[in-house]
Amino acid sequence: MIAKVLFVCLGNICRSPIAEGVFIHLVRQRGLEGRYLADSAGTGDWHRGQPPDPRAVAAAGKRGVNLPSLCRQIAKADFQDFDLILAMDRSNHEDLNSLCPPQLRGKIRLMRDFDMEAKTAADVPDPYYGGPYEFDAVYEMLQRCCASLLEKMESGSPVT
Ligand code: 4NP
Repeated sequence: MIAKVLFVCLGNICRSPIAEGVFIHLVRQRGLEGRYLADSAGTGDWHRGQPPDPRAVAAAGKRGVNLPSLCRQIAKADFQDFDLILAMDRSNHEDLNSLCPPQLRGKIRLMRDFDMEAKTAADVPDPYYGGPYEFDAVYEMLQRCCASLLEKMESGSPVT
């Protein structure tokens, strides 16, 4: 069984491509290729077809993680195709909920629900208008979330 995980933010050029790249990196590090499929998408489509923001590429690159994603917008079929859909912030979560058929809404979770250091209902802040510091902070947050998400999925605990 392959678990299909989709990371979603607003533009799909900063947060969700980092999450996707980190998750794929952790899966490979742990020898779990073939067990997981990861992708990312945006609720908006301004950057369709583009690679991630160079600042996201830099933050990941200096930690040995590459970001394979090309920007795409979330599609209705994603709610059917993926097992788990992770919203980077509460605004993305709301947008996803309104696009998603009601019976599939249980697949949508907030990314920081998997951050041990987060208080309740926390966001991964949008670094788009920030600089390298904001991108580094987002990277570290996503690294924490992805590691605990993967650990949870591997342990068989429910994540949806
Ligand atoms: P992301 O950041 O949602 O983390 O990819 C953004 C990227 C682009 C825009 C907004 C947020 N934008 O408005 O173009």
